[in-house]
Amino acid sequence: MRLCSLLLLCLAAYLSSSYVISLPHMWTKLILTHHWPSTFCGMEVPVCHPNISYWTLHGLWPDKGIDCNSSWHFNSSEIEDLLPDMKKSWPDLLSPMSTGFWKYEWHKHGTCAAKAESLNSQHKYFSKALELYHKLDLDSILTKFDIIPSENYYKLSQIEGVIENFYSVKPKIQCVHPSKNAGFQILGQIEICFNSDFTLLDCEKHLTTTPKGHVDNRIAVDKTSGFSVCDQDVPVYYPTPS
Ligand SMILES: *[C@@H]1O[C@H](CO)[C@@H](O)[C@H](O)[C@H]1NC(C)=O
Ligand SMILES: *[C@@H]1O[C@H](CO)[C@@H](O)[C@H](O)[C@H]1NC(C)=O
Ligand SMILES: *[C@@H]1O[C@H](CO)[C@@H](O)[C@H](O)[C@H]1NC(C)=O
Repeated sequence: MRLCSLLLLCLAAYLSSSYVISLPHMWTKLILTHHWPSTFCGMEVPVCHPNISYWTLHGLWPDKGIDCNSSWHFNSSEIEDLLPDMKKSWPDLLSPMSTGFWKYEWHKHGTCAAKAESLNSQHKYFSKALELYHKLDLDSILTKFDIIPSENYYKLSQIEGVIENFYSVKPKIQCVHPSKNAGFQILGQIEICFNSDFTLLDCEKHLTTTPKGHVDNRIAVDKTSGFSVCDQDVPVYYPTPS
């Protein structure tokens, strides 16, 4: 009897692990990316005029897959009720009246996130991103712990420390590096990571524990944006909204 239940347990464990492995296209981690409008717009002059003095959403990105279903078209009517919040929390900094940014994020990342039942519609995907963004409330947390735009430079460890202490997970923080000899880097993007059940997770964790960690790296550093992981030893400039 004992042996039997033990065997069943082992069989169940074996089956569940092989089940996970047999879904090669399934993501296991989500990256909620925030960007700082002044930094983003500083890279995009003169088309972008930031009039926003809080961290906004860049995207919700699964760790596997890009452009997973090109025939699943973005349709803003499906997220009609979310649009007021989308405009405030997830604005298109380049053209505030356009839905182009959301369309882009849906096609590139949303259609991949949608492989999970929990995110398998446009409404589920966008509303979950907004929900996580509001739950984290990163902008208020930084302010509360005195990480505010300033003419004085921060150490990267100060910013990381506040986030790690508050959320108990490691973020990934990205900067713009103006030039090799500038002597500072500009705070640009903060990523906070989640498991597939939407519990918090260290952003770096999977980079070292999964053999396919390089996949995370490719996605987490958005090549088009010009952000890269901040340097530990270079002073961090957190620009005041202009
Ligand atoms: C910037 O935002 C302020 C306050 O929300 C508003 O009064 C002002 O008209 C905005 N300026 C531009 C150029 O959008
Ligand atoms: C792609 O999206 C379309 C439209 O929602 C859907 O009918 C189709 O089943 C999807 N294809 C895959 C492979 O998921
Ligand atoms: C967009 O979504 C709305 C609401 O679900 C639907 O009525 C409409 O047919 C959709 N449009 C297209 C082009 O799929």
